[in-house]
Amino acid sequence: MVVMSAPTQDVIMGGAKEMLDSYGRRINYLRVSVTDRCNLRCAYCMPAEGIEKREHRDILSLEEVENIVRAAVRLGIEKLRFTGGEPLVRKGLLQLVENLAQIKGLKDIALTTNGILLKKYARDLKNAGLNRVNVSLDSLDREKYRRITRCGRLDDVLEGIELAQEVGLTPIKLNVVLIGGFNDDEIIDFVNLTFKRDLEVRFIELMPLGEAQAWRKSSFISNQTVLDKLPRLIPLPFKGPGTVARLYKLPNAKGKVGLISPISSHFCNYCNRIRLTADGKLKPCLHSNQEVNLKGVHPDELLRLLFEAIKAKPAKHYISTKGASEAQRNMNEIGG
Ligand code: GTP
Ligand code: 5AD
Ligand code: SF4
Repeated sequence: MVVMSAPTQDVIMGGAKEMLDSYGRRINYLRVSVTDRCNLRCAYCMPAEGIEKREHRDILSLEEVENIVRAAVRLGIEKLRFTGGEPLVRKGLLQLVENLAQIKGLKDIALTTNGILLKKYARDLKNAGLNRVNVSLDSLDREKYRRITRCGRLDDVLEGIELAQEVGLTPIKLNVVLIGGFNDDEIIDFVNLTFKRDLEVRFIELMPLGEAQAWRKSSFISNQTVLDKLPRLIPLPFKGPGTVARLYKLPNAKGKVGLISPISSHFCNYCNRIRLTADGKLKPCLHSNQEVNLKGVHPDELLRLLFEAIKAKPAKHYISTKGASEAQRNMNEIGG
């Protein structure tokens, strides 16, 4: 019997040290959605009744995630972010973080969370090797927070952020999705947090994807609104490819303000990321329907499939011209 050996990284990459896509963008960031389930139901992300539960066998096992990440690191991935749904509801996440933290070449392991379970897990996450967290928080008002998340308790999140800062899961970034008529009256309150705390408060333009696709036009407001309300914001130097937020600071503030503007000025030219969905599909772009299946694939095949997916990454998205994302999935399946 002839035994075929798996293609090596050298063969696949032709000896190159960095992974470039077809447009010359260096791809070094992988976002891994470890579950599509969530303990909240944010109105722009999930239907009120929740989602149909996927069978266990349809979700990547932790071992499969680890194999995929190991292959991705061999291709040049240096930064990993766990997303969801809510990643902290996935059983075994701490062990996964611990295993991945051992991988040589993986320089940054981060997590995007709604913060509800941070109080419970922040310390263990830090001990397992997680570097930092980004926390989604769309209102500082208890009642409004409950309304947008349909069930969340604001104080759980605030206490979670406090503990995350205390144990050193820093820098902490707060993700505020701007929604016209809902939280545009809280812009100043959010920015004021940066006086007292060394946080990065980031305003994100709502993307017409999944649940938000059918929302009325007035819900979508540009980040220019933030600049108009806060003319004293000082722009900070652009950090280069891979940074989706343009950074600003108020004089004498401890923290920063970030503007993430996928609609008014898309950042596809600087994109350095690929995504893995909880059911094992590699998505070269958030807003495209293109997906490559990695579930059930033999580990020897992963390198080649990842390489091909990166080479197939589209140049940009067309939400501004089309008015909607091409992606047919809800955000809880893609992880933002
Ligand atoms: P950092 O590593 O801290 O810079 O985090 P991040 O901004 O990469 O991750 P996070 O999960 O906090 O995402 C913040 C927001 O940016 C979310 O609303 C994401 O949906 C959005 N976002 C992240 N990557 C992309 C992207 O490639 N395209 C678009 N359009 N939006 C993105
Ligand atoms: N537009 C912009 N941001 C979104 N998020 C979820 N859905 C959308 C959307 N339609 C954000 C979440 C979280 C991040 C991963 O993505 O609030 O902070
Ligand atoms: Fe859950 Fe995040 Fe979606 Fe809110 S935005 S429902 S916290 S996955």
